[in-house]
Amino acid sequence: METPKTVKIIFPRTGQECEVDAGDTLVDATFRHDLPIRYRCERAVCTTCLTEVMEGAPNLSEMEERERQTLAAIKAQPHWRLACQVSVLGDVKLDYLPITDPRRKPEKGGIEF
Ligand code: FES
Repeated sequence: METPKTVKIIFPRTGQECEVDAGDTLVDATFRHDLPIRYRCERAVCTTCLTEVMEGAPNLSEMEERERQTLAAIKAQPHWRLACQVSVLGDVKLDYLPITDPRRKPEKGGIEF
């Protein structure tokens, strides 16, 4: 399948939608379009950029070992990714999971921050 030149990122909760170049990282897109993702380390360490993939998971870059290890350490749900490690290759629908989000709590599968 041919990769499109531009792809759409949608945040239903905030109503934000933007088009970015295919292959851009989510942090690039956040910086350029003021998307509701916060980030700090950009090295798959702090989990500040934790993002839920609501639709289009196959349209994101493959997970590398560092991201896999960090997500395992926080007992992340299978549809959560670290935005700082992800490139967008096709349309996606996302939601940001801030540090204070109750979905991150232990009873929901994550650890307490
Ligand atoms: S910004 Fe720290 S893990 Fe992504």
